[in-house]
Amino acid sequence: MFLKVVLLACVASVCQAGGLLAPAYGYGAWNPYNNYPAQPAIASQHSNILRSPFNLGQISTYSKAIDTPFSSVRKSDVRVSNPGVAIGGFAPAYHGLAAPLAPAYHGVAAPLVSHVGVSPYGAPVAKVATGGLLGVAYSAAPAVSHMTYTNGLGLAYACEFVDNDVAWVPYKQRPEWIDVTPVPENDGPKPVVVIAHSEKFEDVYGYFRAVLKSNEKSERALQLTKDAVELNPANYTVWQYRRDILKALGTDLQPELEYVESVITHSPKNYQVWHHRRVLVEWLQDPSEELDLTADALILDPKNYHAWQHRQWAIKTFGLYEHEMDFVDNLINLDVRNNSAWNQRYFVMNNHLGWSDMNIQKEICYTMEKIKFVKNNESAWNYLRGLLLHDKRGLSGNCVVTGFCEELYKNQCRSPFLLAFILDICDEAIKKEEIGVFHNPTRGVSLCEDLATKYDKIRSKYWNYVCEKFRKARDELAAKEDPEKVERTI
Ligand SMILES: *[C@@H]1O[C@H](CO)[C@@H](O)[C@H](O)[C@H]1NC(C)=O
Ligand SMILES: *[C@@H]1O[C@H](CO)[C@@H](O)[C@H](O)[C@H]1NC(C)=O
Ligand SMILES: *[C@@H]1O[C@H](CO)[C@@H](O)[C@H](O)[C@H]1NC(C)=O
Repeated sequence: MFLKVVLLACVASVCQAGGLLAPAYGYGAWNPYNNYPAQPAIASQHSNILRSPFNLGQISTYSKAIDTPFSSVRKSDVRVSNPGVAIGGFAPAYHGLAAPLAPAYHGVAAPLVSHVGVSPYGAPVAKVATGGLLGVAYSAAPAVSHMTYTNGLGLAYACEFVDNDVAWVPYKQRPEWIDVTPVPENDGPKPVVVIAHSEKFEDVYGYFRAVLKSNEKSERALQLTKDAVELNPANYTVWQYRRDILKALGTDLQPELEYVESVITHSPKNYQVWHHRRVLVEWLQDPSEELDLTADALILDPKNYHAWQHRQWAIKTFGLYEHEMDFVDNLINLDVRNNSAWNQRYFVMNNHLGWSDMNIQKEICYTMEKIKFVKNNESAWNYLRGLLLHDKRGLSGNCVVTGFCEELYKNQCRSPFLLAFILDICDEAIKKEEIGVFHNPTRGVSLCEDLATKYDKIRSKYWNYVCEKFRKARDELAAKEDPEKVERTI
């Protein structure tokens, strides 16, 4: 008697207004919903290190190509370091990593360095096309595939890089470390587990512990931490000590950013590496590379938790929201099932754009369009639920949404996520005493039964449990509608 009857009279036409929809069917002829979108792939990856005798100088190359349906990214750098002489400023070798997944094809720039000459006496010295003397020669892709060595007599020979460590010189054989005595690992008198480390590991960490003990903060110690990180990027002590040295020496942090980026590329799932990056960005107060960096990591692994964390931190701390929605749109277009992308959408709405009525409607329309294409994945459904939390009409009061659901149902969609969603609407309608023809306890009971026996059998126990609640509500309602009948039965 006190029940209000709610009619689903409104149509979901709201969304057609104002071009809010724009379902963004990918770029060009490629429709992400026709096929399951192609995944980005590392087309090639290359990395080599060449060291001179006694490890006084080293040349390392790194190159990578990532191809997605939308973009092609080429990265490469060649580094020549010569600690025996001086360490020049490392120039960034980070080429045109624009917003990921952007439709533009990034042209491959011409190499800046055609060759790197190595003098026969002592360590390599780079001839840098841009005029810098020492330090880094860097080239845009394609990667330098070989280097030319010249001896004093003018003979030149080329050499392919070899991917091994034959040139490695243990610290205990390095003359410049002769004053240091390595400290062996102290496992206590009875080590529970004896970890067999490689000879190289023992060597490097022996010297690292020595340096740590004597609190030496020097260029060579900085270099040593690099070798220690290479062997174990997860060691917090090494990273922390490296930061201590950087601070003590007042080292230029720009090269350090480049360095940690290359470590991240190799160990993207390592917390310590991302933490180091974060501290550097804080010190520099310069987040300009962070969106590209994390985008790069997310192309390779959209579920990389550390990359998402770092990205959200940078966005929040430095207010980098401007293009984030485009980034998210691209990720969702690429894979509408990707929960992380939907979560990031929520993050931007919640922290930046806000939940104005207009924004809520816009997001509802956007999400419904996505659901139309992929009804059987939870990600978009969850987002829809999440954003309706901010709608004062609630889950059951927004007739655009309820109309959309009934339309799907009428068209024989039986996605468990649709049924569960309608069930939630029923539940809310009952609580608000807004029972209507579509949303009432009887409907709830039959939805539960369908889920338990046909569309979501895996969770039949759960649905049977939920069903009890709706049965009870149904009986209570029947009693209210016909009190005499109840009185008679009492
Ligand atoms: C890192 O290395 C130092 C020196 O060998 C060692 O004492 C420490 O336990 C290591 N920490 C981790 C987390 O592996
Ligand atoms: C996210 O995307 C990756 C690759 O694009 C895919 O393998 C994965 O299933 C997606 N994750 C979710 C939660 O949908
Ligand atoms: C759908 O979304 C969920 C996230 O809730 C994810 O775990 C799952 O892998 C996705 N399913 C498919 C088929 O991509």
